Amino acid sequence: MESKNIVVIGSLNFDIIVKQQRMPKKGETFIADELIQGPGGKGANQAAQCAKLGLPTIMIGKVGDDRFGNALLGSLTAVGVNTSYIKKLGSTGMGIVHVMPDGDYYSTIVKGANDLITVEDIDEVSHVLEASSFIVLQQEIPDEVIEYVISKYKHTNGKIVLNNAPARVIKENILKCVDILVVNETEASFMVGKSIKSVSDAIDMGKEMLPLTGGMIVITLGKEGSVVITPSYSEFFPAENVLAVDATGAGDSFIGALIYALSGDLPIDECMKFATHVSAITVTKEGGQHSFPTQEDIESILFKN
Ligand code: RIB
Repeated sequence: MESKNIVVIGSLNFDIIVKQQRMPKKGETFIADELIQGPGGKGANQAAQCAKLGLPTIMIGKVGDDRFGNALLGSLTAVGVNTSYIKKLGSTGMGIVHVMPDGDYYSTIVKGANDLITVEDIDEVSHVLEASSFIVLQQEIPDEVIEYVISKYKHTNGKIVLNNAPARVIKENILKCVDILVVNETEASFMVGKSIKSVSDAIDMGKEMLPLTGGMIVITLGKEGSVVITPSYSEFFPAENVLAVDATGAGDSFIGALIYALSGDLPIDECMKFATHVSAITVTKEGGQHSFPTQEDIESILFKN
């Protein structure tokens, strides 16, 4: 087996994205502008972005034995993700996303088959995990699976990336084995119990959390940009100034691009700039995975500038 596989263990959701001017008030029926349906789920999104950039990517997860599951498998396969280890059981996880005119979104998920992944499923693919260069996890699958994967594979060559989204309390011994922790400002605030009001707050919070992790933290700050904190380095990377129409999956696109750049052994500042650029392209288009750029899209956009 190729030893440079990216293995994503996570959720696959069928997303219903509703574009609307504002959220309804209590008891109000609000008329939306547009509905977009398509593949989503934080795990599948991150896998899709890795594959769209050309990384050999394997997705491990569960979809329902229904038309949504078939659609998700089809779209992930189409972008080059190896879906042969995804099982079918129950009903497919769903994402209901409300997108506002400035691109900001409010997201709710129904776990469905994502919640049926077990440690036995992980044992069946141990050969895949042992040969990975990155093991990528989020928090839309059961806790015990995440803890099992991190505990079992912490000493393999693959770096463990944990996107603590949606944010959960992570046991100390588990967090310590995470090589790269990626969170947005809401998730970081949940973890530390303080709010982030500025870039320097984010860097300070990252520094506070760093000793609890395996050594690198990225905090994304939406329209502001992102910060990276390592034991020897911290820096703010401003977001690119683009016209955002839909931020659904932008964080996942950022993570996929970051993994792509890290797997090319680029210096960390170059990795962060690349991820910033890729997610900037993502927010300029509607929808989730469909808006993620390929390597070709990035080159053509750079060429136009
Ligand atoms: O990060 C965006 C994703 O979160 C959506 O695709 C939705 O399915 C939820 O998982």
